[in-house]
Amino acid sequence: MGGFAGWHHNAVARLEEQGEARLICTCDPQAAAFAAQQQSWHLAQRGVRVFEDYRAMLEACHRELDLVVVPTPIQLHSEMHAAVTALGIPVYLEKPPTLDYAELEQMITNDRRSPKASLVGFNFIIEPQRRALKQRLLAGEFGALRAATLSAFWPRPAEYFQRNNWAGRLLLNDRVVLDSCFGNALAHFVHNILFWTGAPDLASWGQIAAVRAELYRAHAIEGADTFFTEADTTSGVTMRFALSHACSGASTHVETVLCDNATIRYVVGGTIEIRWNDGRVDTMPFENFDGLVENHRDYYRYLRGESPRPATTLVDCRPFVTLNDLAHISAGQITMLGADRVTAIRDEKEQKEYLAIAGLSSAVERFIARGEWPSASGWPRPPGDVVTPADLPRLYETVRAMAAARPQVP
Ligand SMILES: NC(=O)c1ccc[n+]([C@@H]2O[C@H](COP(=O)([O-])OP(=O)(O)OC[C@H]3O[C@@H](n4cnc5c(N)ncnc54)[C@H](O)[C@@H]3O)[C@@H](O)[C@H]2O)c1
Repeated sequence: MGGFAGWHHNAVARLEEQGEARLICTCDPQAAAFAAQQQSWHLAQRGVRVFEDYRAMLEACHRELDLVVVPTPIQLHSEMHAAVTALGIPVYLEKPPTLDYAELEQMITNDRRSPKASLVGFNFIIEPQRRALKQRLLAGEFGALRAATLSAFWPRPAEYFQRNNWAGRLLLNDRVVLDSCFGNALAHFVHNILFWTGAPDLASWGQIAAVRAELYRAHAIEGADTFFTEADTTSGVTMRFALSHACSGASTHVETVLCDNATIRYVVGGTIEIRWNDGRVDTMPFENFDGLVENHRDYYRYLRGESPRPATTLVDCRPFVTLNDLAHISAGQITMLGADRVTAIRDEKEQKEYLAIAGLSSAVERFIARGEWPSASGWPRPPGDVVTPADLPRLYETVRAMAAARPQVP
């Protein structure tokens, strides 16, 4: 009921008002702590049964369910997805499905027990403007696709990493979590870049051939809060990703797709621009829509047999999970940036503390535009290794070694 699950409750309540869904049951181990929310969602009036254990909920209610939404901590996704699909019920699973490539394979196998595929809730794949542009890209209108880049900054105050027991963690009870800006908070945009680079169909994602990465942290957390990652797809497209939580000011993100005849600049919630090499510029305002409600609607259409597939299936997540795992394996270590490179900024209005890496914007610009690594301009680490999917089995030893070298975790 808490965190993003609350947003799902709001979305489902809206859809229920419009006769498009009916909530049968819900659960939270601390259900009583959400008394006020339960009232505002009118759970009692709507006849929604409330449980503290999801297994008891499934046992009692499974015959009535067409789908189950799983918006819980990442490390619970696979066991909950397994329990639901074992009953033949598909799942609306929050992103990321898991950040462990081997667990993803098990989940793909489990998903086949349900007659309908599960959806992974990457919000932006259903955007009509994104889909229309990708169709034009696939039709060759912009010339051959050469590269795609993402720069994304989302300042997070120190308290963000203390909000639950898994924030910023690499491992929990020796299980892979890998919570980070790349794997979690900004994962949507990483998955979007893979969507741009996927061919031959609209529902294709770029397949990973090789990855190189440098991982840094400003916060005293187990995982990384800043990623510089470069990857080649099997079709020879180069992708660069620069992401950070260790910054201050406004959140920004820009997806860029470079083709022979034009460059597309796509900002979710902002503007979409096509810069043609002959000097023309087409600008389109971003058509806002309620992403969560529309993702529910899109998935219901699929479950009713009115559309051929969910926007993102578990199989479609292989490139994302592979890329995230290989970024860790390539980097081999998470480099703690010292006081000389990190500035503490207090936002008096918010009453929150931010840690910002000095020179981050220019480092990101040089990396995105020219592929220049921070380590080449003095950031204190050696370059990452070039790794390929054959290196994936090294994930566990890498992550354990990173966790063993963690700073004092608050
Ligand atoms: N699609 C998006 O835009 C978006 C945005 C934010 C978060 N998310 C995703 O949503 C998921 C949850 O993230 P969060 O930050 O809200 O996490 P969170 O730690 O706040 O947990 C969400 C809720 O799950 C509940 N929970 C914990 N254990 C449970 C259990 N055993 N059974 C039932 N409920 C349980 C918690 O009590 C909490 O209320 C993650 O996968 C995250 O990436 C998606």
